[in-house]
Amino acid sequence: MFKIRHITPEDAEACFITQHANHYHEGGLYSENAMKFISKFLTDSWVATVDDKVVGHVIGLIQNLKDPNIPEEYHNLIAYNPLDNCVHPDYRMNGISGALTTHLCESYPMIKTQIHADNTAAEHILLTRDFKIVREIPNFYKDGGGTKILIREG
Ligand SMILES: CC(C)(COP(=O)(O)OP(=O)(O)OC[C@H]1O[C@@H](n2cnc3c(N)ncnc32)[C@H](O)[C@@H]1OP(=O)(O)O)[C@@H](O)C(=O)NCCC(=O)NCCS
Repeated sequence: MFKIRHITPEDAEACFITQHANHYHEGGLYSENAMKFISKFLTDSWVATVDDKVVGHVIGLIQNLKDPNIPEEYHNLIAYNPLDNCVHPDYRMNGISGALTTHLCESYPMIKTQIHADNTAAEHILLTRDFKIVREIPNFYKDGGGTKILIREG
């Protein structure tokens, strides 16, 4: 069974290892220093643990939605933006990302996020938690794949 708790600076290395073990796309990978920064300053981010070992995370921050890639009707709003939600490959398909996402929705009803258009797992997790696709942009990532922007209005 897993548990969810707030991130701490000591979690940076485990989050780095999880993300670099197998991420959906290269654009999602952060350096070890970036992870140290995130774990220190993005304190309203969470990790999932199994027997006290950190095996997954959802990290992010609150942002203004005034962005050319976001439909204008949202531009006067702010939302939590999960920068990364990742589970170590050895612990996937156990409901950990779903639970992290549910936990996030309970903490921040208004959320904006962005995924690779082919990331069916992430899309399923988000659509089953009331996220709606508000824009699709083709040829967005280095691999030629598109992106989907999703918003959840709590
Ligand atoms: C996407 C990711 C976070 C899912 O983590 P996970 O802990 O295995 O997900 P869960 O076990 O919570 O699965 C949640 C749901 O997604 C479904 N799912 C999982 N993998 C799936 C896949 N490849 N295709 C379709 N659905 C999938 C599960 O069946 C489950 O559905 P259910 O709750 O209706 O039964 C994980 O694969 C990952 O870390 N990928 C790399 C990083 C990434 O893509 N992050 C997301 C965008 S930043």
